[in-house]
Amino acid sequence: MKKITAKAPANIAFVKYWGKKDAALKTPLTDSFSMTIDQSITTTTVAFDTQLTRDEVFFDGKVVSGREEQKVIEHLDRIRALGKNTLFARVYTKNSFPSGAGVASSASGFAALTLAAASALALTLSTRQLSILARLGSGSASRSIPDGFVWWHAGTDSDSSYAESLFPSDHWDIRDIVCIVSDKEKKVGSTEGMGGIRTSPFWRERLKAVPETIDACIGAVRRKNFREFGVVVERECINMHAVMMTQEPPLFYWSDTTMRIINALVDVRSRIDFPVFFTIDAGPNVHLLCESKQEKAVESFIQTIPGIVRSYSNKPTQGARIVEDHLF
Ligand code: PMV
Repeated sequence: MKKITAKAPANIAFVKYWGKKDAALKTPLTDSFSMTIDQSITTTTVAFDTQLTRDEVFFDGKVVSGREEQKVIEHLDRIRALGKNTLFARVYTKNSFPSGAGVASSASGFAALTLAAASALALTLSTRQLSILARLGSGSASRSIPDGFVWWHAGTDSDSSYAESLFPSDHWDIRDIVCIVSDKEKKVGSTEGMGGIRTSPFWRERLKAVPETIDACIGAVRRKNFREFGVVVERECINMHAVMMTQEPPLFYWSDTTMRIINALVDVRSRIDFPVFFTIDAGPNVHLLCESKQEKAVESFIQTIPGIVRSYSNKPTQGARIVEDHLF
């Protein structure tokens, strides 16, 4: 059968997803809002083949095994069920960013796999249907299907829990400068971590605040008011980490270098006009958000902080798409 290749970006959430309503369906407790990022791309080629006697999964040319392989096979099973097909597939994947460098790859990975495998089975799915399907692989992958600035509706069931583009990638020329502070895999993955959300005394408080936070964030993006946007995003990130840190057992994702970056940023902002704000996911790496005109200043700021392994700058970009350059 036909070989299909898809590319999909990772995304950075401004209003975050932490906590599932239904663990199997990966429906979230809250809406979230994110931006796709152009330097964190997964490319995946899929071909269903009558000659194969099992699924074959490769990452960077090497065979994938264990839990990682299982997750890919389970996702292929979902797509085969939709396509009423029983053929096995060969899957090749690579990332534009180094794996195991603390940058989440499940969002871009499952978005690319969803689009490539569904297209290889000639399924014609809408962006909404693709987003729902990607969500079943990894929650945040739902937000890597649409373009630019993306709203994931929590919904009330599987069919109403999907992400959509609110503004295209060229709506606002902002940057997400990722500061890698550790090359190690995170200690507690997001699935396990968010499983404990209800043990925090603060999780309901955050939940209640999310609709208002989403409104404020989307409003600031619509008006392109960077300061308003940055204040909301930073506060929301700290709220999520307050929930993480107060879970049982507590999750401390921040490292010494994470704190050093936050403290340095707060200090610079108290002295000069420096409209730069941070957000952090389930790991120690810091995403510095700024308008494009501040990019050089942020690079100089990063140079002053010991402990940053490397950094790279992302723009908003288009969502998952089919390309012609196959990996095998
Ligand atoms: O979909 P997952 O399991 O990669 O969860 C992502 C969780 C956070 O990165 C912490 C927040 C988010 O909304 O991306």
